[in-house]
Amino acid sequence: MSAPLKIAIAGLGTVGAGVAKVLASNGAAIAARCGRTIAITAVSARDKKKDRGADLSAAKWFDDAADMAANADAHVIVELIGGSEGAARKTVEAALARGRHVVTANKALLAHHGVALAKTAEAANLVLGYEAAVAGGIPIIKALREGLAGNTITRLTGILNGTCNYILSTMRATGRQFADVLKEAQDLGYAEADPAFDIDGIDAAHKLAILTSVAFGTEVNIKSVHAEGIRNVSSLDIQYAEEFGYRIKLLGLAERDPKTGGVVQRVYPCLIKPEVPLARVDGVFNAVVAEGDFVGKSVYEGRGAGAGPTASAVVADIMDIAAGRRVPTFGIPATQLKALPSVPVEQHEGEYYVRLLVVDRPGVFADIAGVFRDESVSMESVLQRGRTEKSDVNVVIITHETQEANLLRALKRLQANAALVEPPHMMRIEDLG
Ligand code: NAP
Ligand code: HSE
Repeated sequence: MSAPLKIAIAGLGTVGAGVAKVLASNGAAIAARCGRTIAITAVSARDKKKDRGADLSAAKWFDDAADMAANADAHVIVELIGGSEGAARKTVEAALARGRHVVTANKALLAHHGVALAKTAEAANLVLGYEAAVAGGIPIIKALREGLAGNTITRLTGILNGTCNYILSTMRATGRQFADVLKEAQDLGYAEADPAFDIDGIDAAHKLAILTSVAFGTEVNIKSVHAEGIRNVSSLDIQYAEEFGYRIKLLGLAERDPKTGGVVQRVYPCLIKPEVPLARVDGVFNAVVAEGDFVGKSVYEGRGAGAGPTASAVVADIMDIAAGRRVPTFGIPATQLKALPSVPVEQHEGEYYVRLLVVDRPGVFADIAGVFRDESVSMESVLQRGRTEKSDVNVVIITHETQEANLLRALKRLQANAALVEPPHMMRIEDLG
């Protein structure tokens, strides 16, 4: 057996402590599989005294993670601090500058600086491993980069944020309120340090930007991802969607656009039919559907957040380094990744769910219908439900296929209508058949 692979871990929170536990529990099997043991020689976090639930007494403590990356006796620096800037970025840059491999779970860092970091790593023949950054325990980077490498990927669709999927499926199953379920997801270690990243769709956008690069050979470009979150999805929307025969999921979607030659990259809550595989993925689970020209559709499902699943993916990356397995960071050399144009969401075509809370008085529905007619948006179904205590009423409309720009014009005009009690709620209906 070769000499141990020495690793230094920056960040000992949910994921960092999880990695220490996986290595402690499964060390012998891991060594057998990659031909050498893996030894934690150094660690860094903010609070030296905090109990991490793992024996780290043999590891040297560093107060400063970047200092550890620059000086620790380690072959690999494992960055598990988080954030696209600050200590995390400094640590990764210090590690690469010193000629050390890096493993990270940090999708924000990769989404903002992935191309530059990959170029630096590849120029120095170093590995930048980030399996844990996308879809937690699902080995989706390996699947796309290696397992499906012989295909041209045509489309990716996924549930990429465990916190949001947990919130939406728990609200649907129990009728509990958003804030209450979010708190539970935080307590379970699923949410980001700032949960706004989860519920505003930013975390899923980071992951989609990374997946898009691997799938389509493009530069990771977070700015070209259109992102909406689930903050405004209410129990009422979940109920109405059910009545029309749909589930609401926060999805990430990426595909090549033959008209512009660009890549569509969108994250938003949307309505999907209950019989498609993603509709049945509940709780903290994530899933990715990859469509390739020869493989067809393949579906990958597993826990998308939490200590165990994420640490499992981090350890797999460390084992690849230990065993000497190398693949370019995003599938092709970083210098060859293409910069493709993004496709504005206004060009999206499809059916839509619209909920309007309006004052219940004669003529209001006729006004709504008139605006939709003028903007060439055709209604497929309409539902109107009993008055609230304030004599307001919800009008829910499913449209026929239309261009988003038309619907947005219609909603803008309706917003100026005095009968509207609050801004319109709109969600796309995705045909994933
Ligand atoms: P966490 O529980 O908040 O842990 C963060 C760790 O970083 C803590 O140990 C903290 O130290 C340490 N830290 C913070 N600032 C530091 C600094 N300036 N220098 C050194 N250490 C510092 O976060 P986490 O959930 O483990 O997430 C870590 C990374 O994994 C993030 O990039 C996150 O996006 C990613 N990720 C998380 C999950 C998940 O399910 N949690 C899943 C996939 C990916 P103290 O403990 O002393 O405060
Ligand atoms: N906050 C993230 C989520 C962690 O809920 O999916 C996993 O990346």
